[in-house]
Amino acid sequence: ARKALSPQDLAGKTFLVTAGGTREPLDPVRFISNRSSGKMGHALARAAWERGARVLLVSAATGIEPPWGVEYYPVETAADMAERVLSLFSQVDVVIKAAAVADFRPAEVAGEKIKKSEYRSLILTLEPTVDILAELGKVKRHQILVGFAAETTEALHQGALKMAAKNVDLMVINDVTLEGAGFGSDTNIVTLLYPDGRREELPRLPKLEVAHRILNAVKSLPRFKEQ
Ligand code: CTP
Ligand code: CA
Repeated sequence: ARKALSPQDLAGKTFLVTAGGTREPLDPVRFISNRSSGKMGHALARAAWERGARVLLVSAATGIEPPWGVEYYPVETAADMAERVLSLFSQVDVVIKAAAVADFRPAEVAGEKIKKSEYRSLILTLEPTVDILAELGKVKRHQILVGFAAETTEALHQGALKMAAKNVDLMVINDVTLEGAGFGSDTNIVTLLYPDGRREELPRLPKLEVAHRILNAVKSLPRFKEQ
């Protein structure tokens, strides 16, 4: 069915998309997470599939269905996501890391529910998680890496720093303080940052349209044609 609807300009390529906010358990009934809805990542997976790509979707999003046609790998924690992404990496051409991965997790996970009667105040110790995108940046070969930068201040500057630090080929910069952008919204406002320093500011658009613009940008990269 997809062939009738859109140009199959990504046929023959395999895309791996991560989506959603990871959940880091504290005890059997509680977790630490973030405001990511998974909508941007799921829109990317759908758009790539509609354009003929094979799509692997590693998603920590809850409450939204995976798009039709994609190979779906639900995960919960940053560690689960890291393991799954690293094991799939050799078979993919493009990785798009739309997920909001927890940067820290509880250093200890209680085996039983934490009881309030046992504490007057509770201090949690958190430890860092793996930076999945940075790891991919170290081991990438032919793969193209697309990162997201969720920022609340100096978005362009912070995004450019992350792009260099993680060896990313295209950065999608998201000022999540803008109305109609970022977490939970059905629209997004992003700036694309290319390896040569070029910037493309997109207007507020539905997330599916933002997804298509990101895929167009990936397609335009010299590395994509060389794959
Ligand atoms: N990312 C990742 N693994 C992590 C943290 C982030 O793969 N443990 C990826 C995200 O999926 C995103 C990019 O790195 O594509 C940037 O994430 P972001 O949270 O904006 O930046 P950080 O490098 O984590 O820095 P900070 O949160 O301090 O701004
Ligand atoms: Ca982060």
